[in-house]
Amino acid sequence: MEIKRIGINTGGGDAPGLNAVIRAIVLAAVQRGWECFGIRDGYNGLLMPEKYPEGGLMPLNRDTVRGITHLGGTILGTTNRGNPLAYPVLGEDGQYHVIDRSDELLDAFAAQKLDALIAIGGDGSLSIAGALADKGLRVVGVPKTIDNDLEHTVATFGFNSAVYFATECIDRLHTTAASHQRIMVVEVMGRYAGWIALNSGVASTADVILLPEIPYDINKVAAKIQEREARGRSFSIVVVAEGAHSVDGDVSIIGQSVGQAERLGGIGHKIGAALEALTGKETRVVVLGHLLRGGKPTAYDRLLSLRFGAAAVRALAEGQTGIMVALDPPTVNYVPLNLVSGRMKRVPLDCDTILTGRDLGVSFGD
Ligand code: F6P
Repeated sequence: MEIKRIGINTGGGDAPGLNAVIRAIVLAAVQRGWECFGIRDGYNGLLMPEKYPEGGLMPLNRDTVRGITHLGGTILGTTNRGNPLAYPVLGEDGQYHVIDRSDELLDAFAAQKLDALIAIGGDGSLSIAGALADKGLRVVGVPKTIDNDLEHTVATFGFNSAVYFATECIDRLHTTAASHQRIMVVEVMGRYAGWIALNSGVASTADVILLPEIPYDINKVAAKIQEREARGRSFSIVVVAEGAHSVDGDVSIIGQSVGQAERLGGIGHKIGAALEALTGKETRVVVLGHLLRGGKPTAYDRLLSLRFGAAAVRALAEGQTGIMVALDPPTVNYVPLNLVSGRMKRVPLDCDTILTGRDLGVSFGD
């Protein structure tokens, strides 16, 4: 079937580069004579049209995407509470329950005469995209997440920007840590994968890097700091992934809402308190949190996002569906969505960056 109108959506947490992907899709699609519509706030623009007096679909053309490549966030809006397969609704009992609204969504696509969807998102959004493809919608996914935890792509867009900013922050913490002779614990996002902590930690020459993939022994971390002290290094930088946990402890969870993933956080403060008690050194904790998701994409992420967006349109034009565009240097490839969804790319313990860290004397708490 010939494509005339496509929908574009952004789902889950935002990441630097989303607007660049949108712009590339629109420009590449317009060249092929296709009309483009952005679905507001995940799929909510189609599932709750009454909430959008200005329309749940945003017409996208050369004018609406002008000058957005370098902007953070997403002009379409996003949500991590709008999974059509497990949509949270308030029940008569006052509690939230989840229901499957995917057929309703497909009907809305048909009613709006949308021939295909380009879904930009992380694991959750790409799983939804895969399910919609299985139900017959023409779908191409674009891998987004600052966490870099998606399989079958060398990188997701947003990751490089997050690492760049975290590195800049840790550099700044170095000077204040050294001036005050303190331990500085920096907690970074990444969910259950340690990519952001590892890359920013090694790049910023952290002394200790704690990853979800390597359960730590707090006594070994304290010993590393004391060994530095004995060598006249009276400050230490400890980078902690939010999903890190000790050999005998669990991941630190702040909470969970119906239809949403667990919210991680708090490990930095636990480690800070433990290190202060064990070493007697003054310790401060900095949680970078959502700062890592904000701001402009780096040049690397802009280019990757533009390449992904254009490749997604080429994929649809070639008749592809149920696939994700993926970075496979020097090219961008297509990978079946069912090979990506429900999986997680964690840091391999023998990867070169961990080996490099160890050779440079970084402690991973093991
Ligand atoms: O997946 C991206 C991410 O920023 C994770 O690193 C983090 O755990 C989570 O999203 C935070 O989500 P929220 O925006 O719901 O707080």
